[in-house]
Amino acid sequence: MRTQMLIGDRWLDGDGERISVLDPATGDEVASVAAGGPAEALAACDAAAAAQAGWAATAPRVRSEVLRSCWQLLVEHTDELATLIVREHGKPMADAKGEIAYAAEFFRWNAEEAVRIRGSLSVAPSGNNRIMVHHPPIGVVVMVTPWNFPAAMITRKLAPALGAGNAVVIKPPKETPLTALRIAELLGEAGVPPGLVNVVPTQSAGSWFDAAVDHQAVRMVSFTGSTDVGRILLRRAADRVLKTVMELGGNAPFVVFADADLDAAVEGAMVAKMRHSAETCTAANRFLVEKAVADEFTERLAAAMGEVRVGNGFSDGVTCGPLINSGALNTVDELVTQAVGAGASTAIGGSRIDGPGFFYQPTVLGNVSADSPITRAEIFGPVAPVIPFTDTDTMIAQANDTEMGLTGYVYTRDLARGLAVSERIQAGMIGLNRGSVSDPAAPFGGMKQSGLGREGASEGIYEFCETQYIAVDW
Ligand code: SIN
Repeated sequence: MRTQMLIGDRWLDGDGERISVLDPATGDEVASVAAGGPAEALAACDAAAAAQAGWAATAPRVRSEVLRSCWQLLVEHTDELATLIVREHGKPMADAKGEIAYAAEFFRWNAEEAVRIRGSLSVAPSGNNRIMVHHPPIGVVVMVTPWNFPAAMITRKLAPALGAGNAVVIKPPKETPLTALRIAELLGEAGVPPGLVNVVPTQSAGSWFDAAVDHQAVRMVSFTGSTDVGRILLRRAADRVLKTVMELGGNAPFVVFADADLDAAVEGAMVAKMRHSAETCTAANRFLVEKAVADEFTERLAAAMGEVRVGNGFSDGVTCGPLINSGALNTVDELVTQAVGAGASTAIGGSRIDGPGFFYQPTVLGNVSADSPITRAEIFGPVAPVIPFTDTDTMIAQANDTEMGLTGYVYTRDLARGLAVSERIQAGMIGLNRGSVSDPAAPFGGMKQSGLGREGASEGIYEFCETQYIAVDW
């Protein structure tokens, strides 16, 4: 297990400060990892700056082949990386393995995109010159990543950044640094030159970030996490007018019309709510169900939740792990208590599970009122509030009555209605008769306060590029 930070080609202990990484299933320490501060953040930016120009000058095909090797090596190390994820995050082993496949795929996808960064050439309207546009790399990118996908939220940024010719400094989350450090080591084995990927865990995120954004070589910040933290990073990045890509919070409506295939809707609801232990920003947060089928949907969803096996992610058959820490557990518990206090019924669950570990019962709440606090918060836990609706326009107003706009889900057999409703939901990603939208080949990102920019698809790599235009007189 790698427990030192990576700066340039050196694994370092820093000044001796350590982060204690806990297993959320037991509360026990799994490892203690070297923590850096502003000095280490600056050293990492120096290392990235020194390595970047040489990498930018390599042929796209060379970069592409290195990325493809990264994909291969991550896939070959699936069991080892998944074990690290379960240990520090707690998600079930099958989800952890799924995450590695997802994480690795960003390398394969961007290996294919790295050789297809297109510019353009056109004749100026005056006819006097040509307009040539190309996309050089942006330079050094600071990445701040979340704990819910210890591997994939790094590779979704890292693969296109490297593919475009950049170098990166990563601040992994203090909850799950082990996966990040091992991935960085594997990337070196796959042929990523030293200095391009630097990983500096920290206990002092604020001063770490302040130092990094003020480094002269840094030109971009890419962040995945909460909207509250994103706002702080945006303000700070503005001081140096840095480019930003922000993948922020969600509050996804999951709409079920009475004509929907209810078996499919319940199956999709379980995926949209429960994948990766219900700790995703794409998670269905509010189930808006047409009144005629609301009771039946609630019952069937509760039955499906009753089949979920909660426990240690290493145990066979477990399909939902613990929440990440006691704070997360308290937040979920409070939201449920408030909703029930305001009149919601508990179809199943509704309580925390005695420790050790930070477990919550899979929960379905019926007849939740549209203005209950649980409809405003990003739950980030295994709780499904069902809100009946009778009128489509009112339902859409409720679905959009949030500053968040990451994901939405719509279930109906009427495809025309499904598409029309999808287009009216203010969210960057919609699952129409599908409970999952995540795909390296699709543009991931939100509207409104859910974010800026897109990751994945063909757009993703351009986020890590500049645009330069050369007026050419022939
Ligand atoms: C996230 O929760 O931040 C990402 C979810 C996904 O990629 O599916």
